[in-house]
Amino acid sequence: MTLARREDAHEAVLPFATADLLGEAPPSDSLRLEQRYGNGDLFKVLEILGVAGPLRVESPWELRDERGRHLIHAAGYAAVPFGERYPPLLEFVDAYLGKSRELGLPQQSAGAWRAALEANLVSLLAHVAPSHADSRVIFANSGAEAIESAIKLARAARPKARSFVNFAAGYHGKTHGALALTPNPEYQDPFLPLSPRTLTLPYGDLDAFEDALARHGDDIAAVVVEPVQGEGGVITPPPGFLAGLGEAARKHGVLVIADEIQSGLGRTGEWFASVAAGLDPDIVTLAKPLGGGLVPVGATLARASIYRAMLAGFASKRHSSTFAGGSLAMAVALRSLEIIAQEGLVTKAREDGRYALERLRQIQARHPRFIEEARGAGMLFGIKVRPVVGKLPFGARRLIPFDDDTLGQLAGVLGMRALHLGGVHACVSLNSARTVRLTPALNLPRPLLDEMLTRVEAVAQGHGRAWTMLTRFPLPRLIQLARLSG
Ligand SMILES: Cc1ncc(COP(=O)(O)O)c(C=O)c1O
Repeated sequence: MTLARREDAHEAVLPFATADLLGEAPPSDSLRLEQRYGNGDLFKVLEILGVAGPLRVESPWELRDERGRHLIHAAGYAAVPFGERYPPLLEFVDAYLGKSRELGLPQQSAGAWRAALEANLVSLLAHVAPSHADSRVIFANSGAEAIESAIKLARAARPKARSFVNFAAGYHGKTHGALALTPNPEYQDPFLPLSPRTLTLPYGDLDAFEDALARHGDDIAAVVVEPVQGEGGVITPPPGFLAGLGEAARKHGVLVIADEIQSGLGRTGEWFASVAAGLDPDIVTLAKPLGGGLVPVGATLARASIYRAMLAGFASKRHSSTFAGGSLAMAVALRSLEIIAQEGLVTKAREDGRYALERLRQIQARHPRFIEEARGAGMLFGIKVRPVVGKLPFGARRLIPFDDDTLGQLAGVLGMRALHLGGVHACVSLNSARTVRLTPALNLPRPLLDEMLTRVEAVAQGHGRAWTMLTRFPLPRLIQLARLSG
């Protein structure tokens, strides 16, 4: 089926009908439409790599690509906690749509779903971090927007301090303020100077942080830290770093923002990875799994004193967003937290993650010329592939139309392609060029987890050395890619 053009008057300006998309067969021209009307070059790159889809859902954990290839779903950037179309979540959404009589966007009135989610989130955090019993919540529509709230809260609470400490390879989003905290020149350069001002330190280096506090403590509003760096390539800091960071910050009155958008709510085998590591953050940001893989929801939790510095009295309308706190999003988030708790997915992620990391490490040890390092934290895995340049056979290098830098960037992308061809839908890392990530559902059944690992090993075995991902890539397509790289 192709998406039909409609002839009627209103349909002439709205050429595509929802009924077409609800049909059984996948719309065959959606990739062309994406290329024509959306982020065209991104979809051209994905098409050249042979991974553009569209993909269809076979079970919550299995997909089928446009060529009929069976894939185990390990992508979703850690935002798909139960897989796709998970029946308990779908049944709940049906019940919500059928029964709830709440306003869709209860902006000027109390809303039952929002109130319940506020209470549950604070209770969940206070259960492990009792100092948060008085905390409050601001909702948002994305992770980046939750970070924007955190920036404003910290600035309002420490009005004389203008700077933030962030960490190399950290990722906090791409809206203007969040981008300032995401120290990657590829994303930042066209938009410099960014605000807030940042002091970027090596991740895991407590001495460097203490030194920065000693020199600039009065000007630092907050330090923003991922308890495990996700987009940075699944990096866990050294033991004691997070607890030490919290202690040092407190001595200087500097606020701590734990960005748990990727690490939190079970992904790394903890409800809050920061708290589990001994940090008692002042502000916590959440998003990804909170939306159950279905709706966008972000949340920023902050101690009452910090919250009130920004939102008190008539200034309580100082921060808002039309859609944030909408009932459907709140309801799905409530149910998602409930499913994580009822199905014991935090513990399952910890145990399955430990098992799978052990197997990934064995695979790495058997194929060290393909995989440089296997990393993991719960059900968040990073496979760092070897460079695809440097050891190319004599003569092959000059055939390849890229400079070494661009080729270096391609390693992770080629790794993601190799896994796709081998039946695993993986994701790249936005701040670590050579790391492919696997972020399967927290409830992935064990046989599928095993099958995923078997497929990863088959890909490593089939390639032997990482650079073969490049030499086996069809040259005409490589030239097309080179044109797009500018
Ligand atoms: C730790 C962290 N913070 C913030 C974000 C930004 O979230 P979003 O993409 O929903 O804006 C991400 C996204 O990957 C993330 O991993």
